[in-house]
Amino acid sequence: MYYPEELVEEIRLRNDIVDVVSGYVRLQKKGSSHWGLCPFHNEKSPSFSVNGERQMYHCFGCGAGGNVYTFLMNYENYSFPEAVRFLADRAGISLPEPEESEEARKREGRRARLLEVNRAAAKFFYYQLRGPRGEAGRRYLENRRLTEETMRRFGLGFAGKNGAELVEYLHSRGFEDELIKEAGLAGYSERHGMTSQFWNRVMFPIQDINHKVIGFGGRVMGDGEPKYLNSPETPVFDKRRNLYGLNYARTARSGNIILCEGYMDVIAMHQAGFTQAVASLGTAFTPQQATLLRRYTDNVLLAYDSDGAGVKAALRGIGILREAGLTGRVIDMKPYKDPDEFMKALGREAFQERIEQAENSFFFEIRVLEGQFDMGDPEQKTRFHREIAKRLCGFSEEMERENYLQAVAAKYFISAESLRRLVVSYASQTGLPRPAQRPRSGVQRKAAPEENAKRAQRLLITWLMEAPGLYGRIRKYISPEDFTEELYRTVAERMFRELEQGDFRPAGIISMFSEEEQQREAASLFSASLPPMEAGQERDKAFRDVLLSVKRNSYQCHVAQMGTDVNALTQAIEGKKALEELARTHISVD
Ligand code: UTP
Ligand code: MN
Repeated sequence: MYYPEELVEEIRLRNDIVDVVSGYVRLQKKGSSHWGLCPFHNEKSPSFSVNGERQMYHCFGCGAGGNVYTFLMNYENYSFPEAVRFLADRAGISLPEPEESEEARKREGRRARLLEVNRAAAKFFYYQLRGPRGEAGRRYLENRRLTEETMRRFGLGFAGKNGAELVEYLHSRGFEDELIKEAGLAGYSERHGMTSQFWNRVMFPIQDINHKVIGFGGRVMGDGEPKYLNSPETPVFDKRRNLYGLNYARTARSGNIILCEGYMDVIAMHQAGFTQAVASLGTAFTPQQATLLRRYTDNVLLAYDSDGAGVKAALRGIGILREAGLTGRVIDMKPYKDPDEFMKALGREAFQERIEQAENSFFFEIRVLEGQFDMGDPEQKTRFHREIAKRLCGFSEEMERENYLQAVAAKYFISAESLRRLVVSYASQTGLPRPAQRPRSGVQRKAAPEENAKRAQRLLITWLMEAPGLYGRIRKYISPEDFTEELYRTVAERMFRELEQGDFRPAGIISMFSEEEQQREAASLFSASLPPMEAGQERDKAFRDVLLSVKRNSYQCHVAQMGTDVNALTQAIEGKKALEELARTHISVD
């Protein structure tokens, strides 16, 4: 914890969530909640609700939810301590110096040291490039048409052929071997001692949104394998959650962000004035990166390579963007391979035109699909039409679906009437997706057993949160130890304690975690919605099944953990009996 828990709670209580959110979103009171357009995804009719009684918000469209802190962290992109300071200030509460646990301080210290050693290394590479030994690197970059200013802006550097020099330099700056290794800058071998990881490469420092160097990509000059060598993941370098160039792109204010494949593409684009260009870091584009982008724009343009691999990557990227509630459009780079080549050949104005002509991602998908069928063959043509219908079913909003249907029908000379019939027939087989069921991020997978256990534990907490009165009826069956997921157990401990004391404050539970990831997870517990179901018997049964599933999992975990100890065996038998009893018990939800 950065700040004492009571203080965090006091600050939360002194900032009414309806007031705070009203500063950002136009809200209207309806029933016990306030409603508005969700600021975390695109929508035309309000599904974002703020509940003053619970002091929480929840979007029924995209699943976003949490308390007043979570709102600011998501909306303003604040860290938790920043949100605390902002709200303290808003309520006129003065804050003590942050209090940190020993462990948190150590972790922060380690991170700070890693950033320092990276910065020192970046500086070393930077001067190497400009010194007598950087000749080859300079020639390479100049050949790629980079200006002196661009090289400076991106902090480009050079790692020479002497693998010991970087290490010597870092030693002289007071960095120890352990740290240098942890940063992935050098490795140790019996034979050569400490030697630089990067050897005879031009160096691209990778910066986070605050311009801090978190890792490096090193490119061979000319051909060679691997083309780019990247720093390994470290406590400061999370490849899934950062984007190359975002430190500049976030303030570009161009109304869109251009997603490219490579470092060189980003650099070429920025040099041509498109400072809104970013790229992922040596791996495919991730859902986490999409979530990150959503903080800055809802309009993402894909500038991927025009070859087969690029098209495949673009299709994947479109799916991920869509999951995150972003619309993607695809820039056509043909006849050139990538933005870097395009820029060199045709230049800035031509690219601007391509931006304006960027293709809607749905049409892009359909066009790629078209290429897989032979339209001269009626059988294949029919399959193509069926596939279109299937994809149209992916639009949950009727108006949007209909608009796409008409557009695609016109484009491919299909009768809108028969296409609509195909869509209806598909929808009746598989059902149309419901927006509320879309996961917040990540690609949907089949649930593994441990995910089912996790799901039951989540549901039980959500259920108790929706109807705290139920607790009295089940308290003799359940204890926090039954929650095998650590975060859920922590939540259950506090929740059950508060329920026992008759002082249950869900919004406070979210901010008891200091890690943002945990807060988000806790918030999602409290803003999930229960599956829709009929009242009465069916509800009772559903609730008992969830409870039973949590107990069964807990029992199985305990059995799996124990040895042959007689005591444990007795416990297991008792647990089994309790389970059987519970299975026979009727618990009324209403
Ligand atoms: P590209 O091969 O398209 O590279 O890979 P590029 O950025 O266009 O570079 P140039 O123009 O050929 O010099 C795209 C991205 O994939 C990652 C890098 O992030 C690269 O920018 N990559 C590629 C690697 O991490 N390692 C590799 O060996 C190749
Ligand atoms: Mn490329």
